[in-house]
Amino acid sequence: MMKKYHPDTMLNSIAVTVAAFAVLLHGVTCLDNGLALTPPMGWLAWQRYRCITDCVTYPDECVSEKLFMNAADLLVSEGYADLGYKYVIVDDCWLSKNRSADGKLEADKTRFPSGIKALSDYVHSKGLKFGLYQDWGEKTCAGYPGVLGNEESDIKQFVEWEVDYIKLDGCYSDVRDMDKGYVEFGKLLNKTGRPMVYSCSWPAYQEDKGMRINYALMAKHCNLWRNYGDIDDSWTSVMSIADYFALKQEFWAQHAGPGHWNDPDMAIPSVSKSQMAIWAVLAAPLLMSNRLSAVRPEFKEILQNAEVIKVNQDALGIQGTRVFRDKGIDIWTRPVEPVHRGNYSYAVAFVSRREDGAPYPYKITLEDLGLNHHIGYTIKRFFLSRKALDALVLDC
Ligand SMILES: *[C@@H]1O[C@H](CO)[C@@H](O)[C@H](O)[C@H]1NC(C)=O
Ligand SMILES: *[C@@H]1O[C@H](CO)[C@@H](O)[C@H](O)[C@H]1NC(C)=O
Ligand SMILES: *[C@@H]1O[C@H](CO)[C@@H](O)[C@H](O)[C@H]1NC(C)=O
Repeated sequence: MMKKYHPDTMLNSIAVTVAAFAVLLHGVTCLDNGLALTPPMGWLAWQRYRCITDCVTYPDECVSEKLFMNAADLLVSEGYADLGYKYVIVDDCWLSKNRSADGKLEADKTRFPSGIKALSDYVHSKGLKFGLYQDWGEKTCAGYPGVLGNEESDIKQFVEWEVDYIKLDGCYSDVRDMDKGYVEFGKLLNKTGRPMVYSCSWPAYQEDKGMRINYALMAKHCNLWRNYGDIDDSWTSVMSIADYFALKQEFWAQHAGPGHWNDPDMAIPSVSKSQMAIWAVLAAPLLMSNRLSAVRPEFKEILQNAEVIKVNQDALGIQGTRVFRDKGIDIWTRPVEPVHRGNYSYAVAFVSRREDGAPYPYKITLEDLGLNHHIGYTIKRFFLSRKALDALVLDC
């Protein structure tokens, strides 16, 4: 079985599924809140909107209830919700600078005049889920009040607000205490009886300090966790995250599975086929951070590619790995359903990082990728640019 592949430009990636082979068993004890059995999908404000608080100068872009209500509207009306993008997640800078007189967290009154409960209700009225940012420290990264010292009462508020997803950042805290603090916080979430997806930032901070991270503990207490720094809206940033995940895959991939995921961060505003293909293979949360009212058609097509989303959301929940690199071609594979007599199918992502621009012929066999089942493979292709599709030749 042989494959001849001609990527056309550096931004073209191809994801292919092949029916196939090999078996791993995945038995990790994990967080049992019944949530995030496949990687969470939705919309998260940070990459695109950061901490814009000046609503006079930037009325449509400031972090405000209007921004999130608008995102909820557009997730539904633009067809994203039907494909699984259901979490609307508020990031940093939603808070008032100080707690209320009775010690409660409050949203900024000018930017969130209706309050968080009303926003949560609005998101729910659209059939979507509501996510909120906080920080396991004295302050959030942007300097607003964090939960440290008020964990129990803050969680009570999250329940009153009917929050479905908590992103807990790690600024202004002691990284050495995170193993204990994040675990405790997770236990408190559980005690409320309200299922809330729990997104932990603890490894991103410990990784930064070169500490050894207890991923088994993480998988037991968090639904997802950020392993690395924030993504930026650039090809360089996407590729540096992909490279870091490949570097660590031996240690990280084994901890991913239904209910617990490694999180390489958001799909950037100028999402590429490469990012979408790699994120699908990595079983990464698909959280878009973009201006939903003005997504360019080619980006929308990428974000709404149902076949690639299907790979991302594969029920086996096995995180894929980079299995091959040569001459600027990276190849990633991920075991997926359907499973035939104990043998997996595979999703394969070909990512060209070449900058020569012209088509570059590259020949590789499935056997080179470790796909060597004697019966052979049925190949299903998708997510190709027109040019690449014309150039792709498969001989079986
Ligand atoms: C917030 O609280 C601090 C300390 O309690 C106080 O100094 C500051 O003036 C308060 N800021 C606002 C905007 O109320
Ligand atoms: C709390 O944990 C128990 C035991 O793991 C689990 O069965 C239950 O579903 C959890 N509840 C919530 C709300 O997370
Ligand atoms: C994979 O399929 C082959 C052929 O059907 C079978 O002999 C083999 O046992 C399967 N592998 C596993 C691990 O079940």
